[in-house]
Amino acid sequence: MADKPDFPEESASSASREGQASQAAQPKPPCVMVIFGASGDLTKRKLLPSLCNLAREGLISDNFAVIGFSRSEMSHDQFREKQRADLEQFATAKLAPELTQWMLKRLYYVGGKFDDPAAYEKLSALLKQLDAEMKTNGNYFFYLATAPEFLGVCAERLHSAGLLDQENGSWRRVIVEKPFGRDLASAKALNKELRTVMNEDQIYRIDHYLGKETVQNILVFRFSNGIFEPVWNRRYIKHVQITVSETVGVETRGGYYETSGALRDMVPNHIFQLVTLIGMEPPISFGADAVRDEQTKILRAIPPFTPEDVLSRTARGQYGEGVVGGKHIPAYRAEPKVDPNTHVETYVAMRLMIDNWRWADVPFYIRTGKALPKRVTEIQIHFRRAPFVLFRGTQIDSLLQNRLILHIQPDEGISLRFGAKIPGPTMKLGTVDMDFSYATFGATPATGYERLIHDCMAGDATLFQRADMVEAAWSVVQPVLDVWQALPPRNFPNYPAGTWGPREAEDLLARDDRHWSNE
Ligand code: BG6
Repeated sequence: MADKPDFPEESASSASREGQASQAAQPKPPCVMVIFGASGDLTKRKLLPSLCNLAREGLISDNFAVIGFSRSEMSHDQFREKQRADLEQFATAKLAPELTQWMLKRLYYVGGKFDDPAAYEKLSALLKQLDAEMKTNGNYFFYLATAPEFLGVCAERLHSAGLLDQENGSWRRVIVEKPFGRDLASAKALNKELRTVMNEDQIYRIDHYLGKETVQNILVFRFSNGIFEPVWNRRYIKHVQITVSETVGVETRGGYYETSGALRDMVPNHIFQLVTLIGMEPPISFGADAVRDEQTKILRAIPPFTPEDVLSRTARGQYGEGVVGGKHIPAYRAEPKVDPNTHVETYVAMRLMIDNWRWADVPFYIRTGKALPKRVTEIQIHFRRAPFVLFRGTQIDSLLQNRLILHIQPDEGISLRFGAKIPGPTMKLGTVDMDFSYATFGATPATGYERLIHDCMAGDATLFQRADMVEAAWSVVQPVLDVWQALPPRNFPNYPAGTWGPREAEDLLARDDRHWSNE
């Protein structure tokens, strides 16, 4: 493929993106991507549409192919036809026929069980054939989008088939989807299992939150602007609130959710990405280890919860039936594949401390839940109030707290709240917001996986989890899991769908004389 893509620019961005790296500078190594669990949702909703978006931007080599691998038997052509239909439905922008053709002719399929060595022989033979035809230099990456119980076995079988051996300058990488373990012990066991068959630098543990532009922008916002970093500490910041609220219930995912719950599903992964990016020290470079070292330090600086802390600094909830956005939502216990007496939580809130020089005594309140009134992911930085002395004797009785809000999704953007004099002969203060919206960039719609897939091809692991980070994150939540398991909740369901979670979550902040800001 030439540096400039040949595909018509049906959806290319029209916005000016000053300073963007030129496409010619972006690496696009020849390679084959193998997707394990290719018949699942992730492939059709995210992976294939992302590959098309990358190809449109000229970020994939012409020497590229994709092999779908899953249990059902299918010919290459049947797989292509299925993907053609799925692409029509799930591509993020209308695809030019040339682009669809480009993609479909690079698709291949292998059917087999994830633990069957014979299936890996078939895979190996096809890889050899494609390598010769497409000149992919023996570069392969394996995307394990399987149920968690197959991660270890897939890695082991790939190793036994010699597919993880990097020889003659070729590279072999493995992307591992979440959930990465279900507690500290299982995460450690999985790390060990993976590292007996490959090196740490071949493992790409994915967290799709890091694919979001607004999450990546946290680093740029903090470290490319001279004005924020000087106030980014305990001297100026009073507390931080991080909310990841969803309006949907668990819908058809009851089977998985019953083994997980809100804490495992969202906290040690997505929410801790946000906490660490907000909390970390400036890394010395964007190098994978430089960034991840700093993130890991934040997780290690969170003092371990004692059982008493778990009782006083966490809250859990489960939704009962209710209405969200005019739509009736059944109680979690009435959802398909959910035990009618389940104690699994669909809501969690926590008060975290980061006990280092930058953040000591600044609480980070985090919360996430299903069936809440609004879909929003945002980070609110609440600054300390200004001294009041100047306003003594005026009609003003209090000053507001400045607040910086990073809107991660939807309505991506950043706003800064400050006080201003309301025009008029007397002294009255109003609250105003200075807003930046990502929409002004006019960016092409994307799935959020493009950057992650491209980084894996390019060998950049900055936006992927390292083994020690994953374990540090589980170490923080493990005491909570233990106490919650030992003391089953007595009052579930404790919030109706369509409300902002259980009373206990309000109490958590009320103890610090604060409240959640639900704007
Ligand atoms: C997934 C969780 O990892 O993230 C889901 O398993 C959750 O339960 C989803 O709904 C949220 O992702 P996003 O990108 O919609 O915020």
